[in-house]
Amino acid sequence: MPINQQILLDNRPQGEAVASNFKLVSAETPALADGQVLVRHHYLSLDPYMRGRMNESKSYAASQPLGEVMIGGTVGEVVESRNAKYAVGDKVVGMGGWQEYSVVDANAPGALRKVDTTHVPLSHYLGAVGMPGVTAWYGLVKIIAPKEGDTVVVSAATGAVGSAFAALAKARGCRVVGIAGGADKCKYATEELGFDACIDYKVHGDVKAMAKALKEACPNGIDGYFENVGGWIMDAVMLRMNAFSRIALCGMIAGYDGAPLPMANPALMLINRMKVEGFIVSEHMEVWPDALKELGTLVGTGKLRPRETIAQGIAAAPEAFLGLLKGKNFGKQLVKLV
Ligand SMILES: NC(=O)c1ccc[n+]([C@@H]2O[C@H](COP(=O)([O-])OP(=O)(O)OC[C@H]3O[C@@H](n4cnc5c(N)ncnc54)[C@H](OP(=O)(O)O)[C@@H]3O)[C@@H](O)[C@H]2O)c1
Repeated sequence: MPINQQILLDNRPQGEAVASNFKLVSAETPALADGQVLVRHHYLSLDPYMRGRMNESKSYAASQPLGEVMIGGTVGEVVESRNAKYAVGDKVVGMGGWQEYSVVDANAPGALRKVDTTHVPLSHYLGAVGMPGVTAWYGLVKIIAPKEGDTVVVSAATGAVGSAFAALAKARGCRVVGIAGGADKCKYATEELGFDACIDYKVHGDVKAMAKALKEACPNGIDGYFENVGGWIMDAVMLRMNAFSRIALCGMIAGYDGAPLPMANPALMLINRMKVEGFIVSEHMEVWPDALKELGTLVGTGKLRPRETIAQGIAAAPEAFLGLLKGKNFGKQLVKLV
């Protein structure tokens, strides 16, 4: 059986996550039992939620246990099978973790899904046509529920979720405004992702400046906000929200290292009769088929051309992950393993 390089969570972060929280080890892949398949991972997905799992505190999901392979989405190829439903060569998406191979009980519900790479490249099943894409879809369609002509805003606009959000919102006739870090990301947002405008929060770096930039970019106010960041950026957006507007509370990455994110003006939720709803995409499996169908069509027809930042080899995963938490990624952050 092949040797499998793995990354374990060795110890929990004290404040900011650091590379020494992780440990690289090698192990033999075990022989397969009936019903199992051996998957060789081509790509590992790195996602902000992993930072929360590294903590021991109460959350919507259990903590990542110490000394075990880090949790993570993977796409790859079946290289050995003792399951009649899977053949060698099948391309699959699963939760294989930060390692080169995984042994999967392929009969377990949701453990593995075959994917078609004819029109959608394999890696995109971890991004636009995977969990991040469905996240954008859920927040937009089920929470913001825009009408044609509505103005919607998204933070972390050029990331895996934000870029899918733009394509989905444009398809519904919205004015779409992004907030992102840096001139390059903003240029990419308007020139390639279809955003009508994008505001660089490194230039408009406080509540007043951001609220002013938003007023210019959103002359009719904001009907829907897809929140990925939290903190002062959310405070600024709140100042421009319309009556009966909606906020899909998807992520608050600015606070993932433990910094408090106080809210300056919660009374605006009352004054504007706003709906503010948090959600976890894995709790809404009922929407995945419809969402993946739409996202697959957008990618297959070239209307959504997601960008990827790809680190090479499993040993590069910790640094790539820490970079993601600091905005060093440009689009979906992946690790290429083959
Ligand atoms: N609720 C759910 O079920 C669910 C599912 C998936 C993802 N999410 C959330 O969705 C958000 C986006 O995820 P993603 O996978 O698409 O990641 P991503 O946007 O590809 O990468 C994270 C981005 O966050 C931005 N960022 C990081 N620290 C920041 C800070 N302090 N202030 C402002 N921006 C910061 C950076 O972009 P800039 O360079 O532009 O700042 C960075 O590129 C995250 O908050 C994640 O936790 C939630």
